[in-house]
Amino acid sequence: MKQKRATAIAPANIAFIKYWGVRDTTRTLPYNGSISMNLDACLTTTTVTFDENLTRDEITLTFYQQAPHLATGVARERVVVHLERLRALAGTDCYAKVISSNNFPSDAGIASSAAGFAALTRAGVAALGLELDERQLSLLARRSGSGSACRSIPSGYVEWYLPSTEFDLVQWDQASYAKSIAQPEHWDLTDVVAVVDTNAKKIGSAENHRLATSSPYFATRLAEIPDRLAAVREAIVQRDFTKLGQAMEADAVSMHAVCMTSHPPSFYWNGGTMNIIHAVRSWRSEGLEAYFTIDAGPNVHVICETADSEVVAQQLRQLPGVEFTIANMVGKGTRLEEPTTPDVE
Ligand code: PMV
Repeated sequence: MKQKRATAIAPANIAFIKYWGVRDTTRTLPYNGSISMNLDACLTTTTVTFDENLTRDEITLTFYQQAPHLATGVARERVVVHLERLRALAGTDCYAKVISSNNFPSDAGIASSAAGFAALTRAGVAALGLELDERQLSLLARRSGSGSACRSIPSGYVEWYLPSTEFDLVQWDQASYAKSIAQPEHWDLTDVVAVVDTNAKKIGSAENHRLATSSPYFATRLAEIPDRLAAVREAIVQRDFTKLGQAMEADAVSMHAVCMTSHPPSFYWNGGTMNIIHAVRSWRSEGLEAYFTIDAGPNVHVICETADSEVVAQQLRQLPGVEFTIANMVGKGTRLEEPTTPDVE
């Protein structure tokens, strides 16, 4: 192999039922199943080039509205560790050049790491000429450390399954992957992301996944989740927006209650976040049906039927603290942008 290159585009995803708490950090195995939709407008594009002339991995990241920069520290380390996984699968020790850019704010609760690691996995696998099916790609993306990346691989509405509790960790590792529940065309929902802060969060979700079990409410959350997962699955199949919204909001509040009561606690919300929560609840009482959910950051995802999305976005932009909105319909999964190039001298 002289030089092998591929480019992939991956969507961020928003979880209706959240992955929170890591059972096994080495394999990135969750305590609970989760369900999400892919976001068609929040994308990461990544080109991976394996090149025999390189003497180390070179990783260039372009964050939202920023100049490209060479990744250092933990950000670089996470990518290098994942490249090592890919190299081990392909039986090569060739270093790679990775060029990755996001068209949305990073590390602010819009699943930038999910999109980033899904794109890195897809592009890296293609560049190395590995033939992996969707399940294997999803498993591999999950092992990146950003578990939710496994949900950005399949298309549309996606569930990350919780394997049988009788399995050991090695069996879990093979069985914990994500699969589509429904394609994007199945149901016209929109996630209007209301951005109240474009800065990176102070505590990454990786650290807080480890702290989740320190909350006295974590066990309660886990006990509630099977019913909520069933409700969300059914709601998607039946296109029952009220059922989806109620389960989704309850799950977001439960996840944040765990964050706020972990040791040490994390408070991701700011004043703008609270303004949106109150507004969405009040719009609902006036007949505009929309529901909020929030990842590990202050920005709020307001989910509505697409027919209502312009009104929702307009009203959100009038709220104090809202800088801008990004409307996302349900998106496709991770895909290659161009075929793998042949060996280049
Ligand atoms: O996959 P991670 O480690 O980036 O964590 C994702 C955590 C949440 O976004 C809050 C929930 C989720 O399921 O996406």
